[in-house]
Amino acid sequence: MLYLKLTTLLAILPLFASGVPTTGPHMKRAECASCEDVAHGFASLNGGTYGGKGGKVVTVTTHADLKKYAGATEPLIIRIDGTIIAEPKGYEVPVKSFKTIIGVGEKGHLVGGGFNINNQKNVIIRNLEISDSYEPTDYNGKGGDWDGIQVDTSVNIWIDHVKLARMRDGLIDLRKDTNYVTVSNCLLSEHNKAFGIGWTENVVAQMTINDNFFNSTNQRGPSADNLKYCHMYNNYFLNVTSYGNYARGKTALLVENSYFERVNDPVVAGPNASIKSNWLKFKDCTGDIHLNVNAHKVFKASKFYEYSLKDPYDLPTTIPPFVGPRPEIGV
Ligand SMILES: *[C@@H]1O[C@H](CO)[C@@H](O)[C@H](O)[C@H]1NC(C)=O
Ligand SMILES: *[C@@H]1O[C@H](CO)[C@@H](O)[C@H](O)[C@H]1NC(C)=O
Ligand SMILES: *[C@@H]1O[C@H](CO)[C@@H](O)[C@H](O)[C@H]1NC(C)=O
Repeated sequence: MLYLKLTTLLAILPLFASGVPTTGPHMKRAECASCEDVAHGFASLNGGTYGGKGGKVVTVTTHADLKKYAGATEPLIIRIDGTIIAEPKGYEVPVKSFKTIIGVGEKGHLVGGGFNINNQKNVIIRNLEISDSYEPTDYNGKGGDWDGIQVDTSVNIWIDHVKLARMRDGLIDLRKDTNYVTVSNCLLSEHNKAFGIGWTENVVAQMTINDNFFNSTNQRGPSADNLKYCHMYNNYFLNVTSYGNYARGKTALLVENSYFERVNDPVVAGPNASIKSNWLKFKDCTGDIHLNVNAHKVFKASKFYEYSLKDPYDLPTTIPPFVGPRPEIGV
């Protein structure tokens, strides 16, 4: 019986390999470039972050369809093809487990609202622009908790090639023991409270933050409160007015190969945090720089996964053109 199944499988495999047209999900997947990519870094642990991989591929052009598919219980790869306006303004689309939400080339754009992932697992948000829920009368975002991507108590989250700007509260808020997260190749810009992590007394969160560009932000690059492991590398910070990497609470921060240009307080620790740093470049920065604070308490990222460090001097030329949506993804 087993022998028969194996031979059947072996006979079918070359059909896929040789590109013979098939019907059903295989054909659909071929139409969605890079839609089954999986996360690296801390999001690759705990079983890995693969989102809706293996599920149906659907394409949406309206906020109503985006809400419908994001809230479905089955695994889905949801392509956003065009600009979608959030209704009402500030609304955060709830996303359920096992979803990949991915823009088509450079066209996917959610305007005026964001996403909320609450008590879920395995979600990928990729290759998308999320912007403009900002209220000019509310610079501090106190009047409405309208974030770009808000995640509460969820695991295995990958945010990649997302361009975020001008939201009312945070661009990315990862809260309440959200764990196994990777944020990579993103642009966070023109914003006050860029990237917050924490809202918990527990010290469990493990996150990788790499190859991002923070440009013209004020604070939270990120504000990292009570992370067990916070690993940052290959990030470029430009024109940051209040502070850059801030390890607070009991966070252990490993910050490697990054470039800080015109940043105030580029790398700082609160009284109970620890920082270990490795090859950081500072240009025209002001304020405080805490390179090593209780560095013996900081973890070794290479114990958990493989990663490659870039020469920090190259980051101002190599990082900006590559962050945010890419023409070759999701098409
Ligand atoms: C950084 O942001 C400023 C203000 O939005 C913009 O003018 C500038 O072009 C950006 N720099 C890069 C390298 O993208
Ligand atoms: C620096 O960032 C601030 C916003 O934080 C912005 O108003 C200003 O125009 C930026 N400066 C440059 C040169 O991009
Ligand atoms: C530092 O830790 C001590 C002891 O746990 C605590 O009392 C204090 O509030 C902490 N300080 C900060 C700023 O978190």
